[in-house]
Amino acid sequence: MKKIIKVLLLIVAALVVIIAIGAAVVSYRGIPKYQAQQIALKIDYTPARVENGAKLSSMLCNSCHLSDDTKKLTGRELSEVKQFGKIFSKNITNDPNAGIGKWTDGELVYFLRTGLRPDGQYVPPYMPKLVHISDEDMNSIIAFLRSDHPNVAADKTQQPECEPSFLAKFLTNIGAFKPFPYPDKPIPGPDTTDLVKHGEYIALYQYECFACHSQDFAKNDYFKPELSEGFFGGGNKMLTREGNELQTLNITMDEKEGIGKWSEGEFVRAVKYGLVPNNKPALRYPMIPYSNLSDKEVRAIYAYLKTVPKQQNAVERKFAQR
Ligand code: HEC
Ligand code: HEC
Repeated sequence: MKKIIKVLLLIVAALVVIIAIGAAVVSYRGIPKYQAQQIALKIDYTPARVENGAKLSSMLCNSCHLSDDTKKLTGRELSEVKQFGKIFSKNITNDPNAGIGKWTDGELVYFLRTGLRPDGQYVPPYMPKLVHISDEDMNSIIAFLRSDHPNVAADKTQQPECEPSFLAKFLTNIGAFKPFPYPDKPIPGPDTTDLVKHGEYIALYQYECFACHSQDFAKNDYFKPELSEGFFGGGNKMLTREGNELQTLNITMDEKEGIGKWSEGEFVRAVKYGLVPNNKPALRYPMIPYSNLSDKEVRAIYAYLKTVPKQQNAVERKFAQR
């Protein structure tokens, strides 16, 4: 009997040592590096692209990179992802040193698609990647970043280095979070004459509504979004900028738990201005008002959501902490 206890204790001690070594290695390695590919690319910065890029960036980049102080994309501390450490979004203005003035078009596109900086440093999902956005939309974002738009005018503000938490290091070292492959073929835009197809593109690939509105970021399938756990049924836990917890809501057409009773007009008002029916309090960050979408685009999302299988997932709407 005593022998068995001794052996068990030894096994436990060995496990403790192995776990401690593993944790020390993860802590020391930090966020892993990979081999970054060189992409030869020169984008034509046409005025139409700059305009389209300004619209896309206003709803895809501003929420994290726009600073209240400088009124430019100089970055800020992202207290809403504090479980991943002390995270700062970066200065992405045209400044050659503090910003991204020295990055080539190819480096920017490669980073935005895969999450790998030119030196191979991987950036975890606290910076979302544009995996399936069309080449034309991607080129527009780059054209905007290069433009003379006031939000990207060179600015010398420096952001501190990120200090990722053990959790961020752990999840990236075990490969739960890893770079996306660079697309191996061109990505065309949607057929905008087909309302449902257009809405699908906006909701899945352009603004990735599904990524927040399904059950959990870790259970999303970015290659086949429909296979994400609880697709559009909400429940994904997030933090407001003040650090209050909330969950994304069920936006399938389920009449009881989702938005099945909403009219198209009510949906447009909610998505563009954050105003929901029955005078409930306005929608909170990280749900941003998508006010630069045209009504037609929001109606396209609505038409698409009507084709998505209903989910019965009940999400409690937490408005108490306001
Ligand atoms: C949810 C927040 C978030 C959003 C949205 C976001 N970013 Fe970022 N971004 C970050 C964070 C955080 C970093 C820094 C990560 C790090 O250093 O590990 C970053 C880094 C970058 C970098 C690298 C800069 C450098 O000097 O290393 C570029 C370029 C960039 N973002 C561009 C964009 C563009 C363009 C968009 C919109 C299409 C965008 N980001 C949207 C959070 C975000
Ligand atoms: C960054 C995460 C995120 C993204 C991306 C996102 N949402 Fe949301 N959304 C939320 C959160 C969180 C709430 C709940 C806000 C609250 O409770 O105040 C919400 C609420 C909503 C609601 C209100 C539902 C209700 O029952 O009141 C609608 C409609 C909605 N989102 C539609 C969209 C659409 C359409 C898109 C894409 C264009 C989108 N969301 C993208 C996080 C997100």
